[in-house]
Amino acid sequence: MNQFLKEVLNDLSHSPKTLNSKYFYDGKGDKLFQEIMDCPEYYPTNCEMEIFTERTRDLAITLKNGFNTFDLVEMGAGDATKSSYLLKELMEMKADFTYMPIDISSTMVKHLEDTLPLKIEGLKVEGLNGEYFDMLEKANQISSRKKVVLMLGGNIGNETPENALEFCRKIRSYLQEGDLVLIGFDLKKNPRTILAAYNDAAGFTRDFNLNLLNRINNELGGNFDMEQFEHYPTYDPATGACKSYLVSTTDQKVQISGEAFEFKENEFIYMEISQKYSVEETEEMARSTGFKAVKHFFDHKNWFVDTVWQCV
Ligand SMILES: C[S@@+](CC[C@H](N)C(=O)[O-])C[C@H]1O[C@@H](n2cnc3c(N)ncnc32)[C@H](O)[C@@H]1O
Repeated sequence: MNQFLKEVLNDLSHSPKTLNSKYFYDGKGDKLFQEIMDCPEYYPTNCEMEIFTERTRDLAITLKNGFNTFDLVEMGAGDATKSSYLLKELMEMKADFTYMPIDISSTMVKHLEDTLPLKIEGLKVEGLNGEYFDMLEKANQISSRKKVVLMLGGNIGNETPENALEFCRKIRSYLQEGDLVLIGFDLKKNPRTILAAYNDAAGFTRDFNLNLLNRINNELGGNFDMEQFEHYPTYDPATGACKSYLVSTTDQKVQISGEAFEFKENEFIYMEISQKYSVEETEEMARSTGFKAVKHFFDHKNWFVDTVWQCV
C-alpha cells in the first residue's frame, strides 16, 4: 500500500479525524499555494521576502560564516523564490557551495534543478525529492561538508510546539557542531491580521484545503463531495495556534479505496496548524534543542523573524 493511502486511511480512522497538510502540495496544490502567497492578506511571504531582498548581503555573510566550502540545504524549498536572492548573493561572493533543495513535491524539485542553474550562472544544484529527514540523511551521504540548513516560510509552524521541539532536535542530530540553521518563524501579532491571512477573501486557502479531498479522490479512489465540506479557520491568541478545519455540512459516508468513513453533520477534519511564536519562545526552542541563537533578521513591522542558530 502506498504511503499516502496508508496515512489517509489511518488519519481518517482517528477521532477527531485528521489529514496531513504535507499532502496539500500536488501540482494543483503548488499552484494554489502560489495564489495564496499573492493574496493581499497573506503577509508572511512579503515579510520574509523583505528580509531576503533587503538584508541579502548580511544574510549571506552570516550564513557563509567563514566556511570555505559548504552545502546549503533547504527544507521544503518550494519554488525557492526567496532563497534564490541568497543564492545569487553567495555566488557573487564567490562562496563554494552546493544548493540542496529538499521537497516532497517532485514537480518542485525538478523545476528547481531545471531552472535555477539557468537563472544563476555557475550554481550547483543537487535536488533531493522526498521527506525532510530521509533527505537530510541523503545529503549527509552525498557530502560530508559543513551544512547550512534553511527552513523558510514558517514551515516549522506546521508542527505543533511539542513536535517542533522534536523536529529541531532531529535536525540537530543530522548536523555537526558549528553547522548553522536559519529558521523562519511567524510571530504573534494582532489576531485579526493572523486570521485574515488564513481566510483570504478570494477563497484560495479554502480551495487549497479542499484540494486535498480532491487529490484523495483522484489518486486514492475516493468519492469526497467537496460541496459537502466547509473550510473553517481559527486563531487562538492565547496559544498562538492558527488551525484550519474542514467541517462536514451533513451526515455522509465517504469511500476511499474500498474503505468507508462516516461523517456526522458538523464533524470536522483537522487539516493544518500554523503556529505563531514570540521571539523569546524561539530562543528557548534553540536552547532546548542543541543550538544557540546567533542572529535575528526581522522585517520592518517585526511580524516575522528569520533566526540563525548555530549547533553547539
Ligand atoms: C509552505 S511551502 C513553503 C515553500 C518555501 N519554503 C517558501 O517559503 O516559500 C512548503 C513546502 O514544503 C514542502 N514540504 C511539506 N512537507 C514536507 C515534508 N515532510 N518533506 C519534504 N517537503 C515537505 C512542500 O511540498 C512545499 O513545497
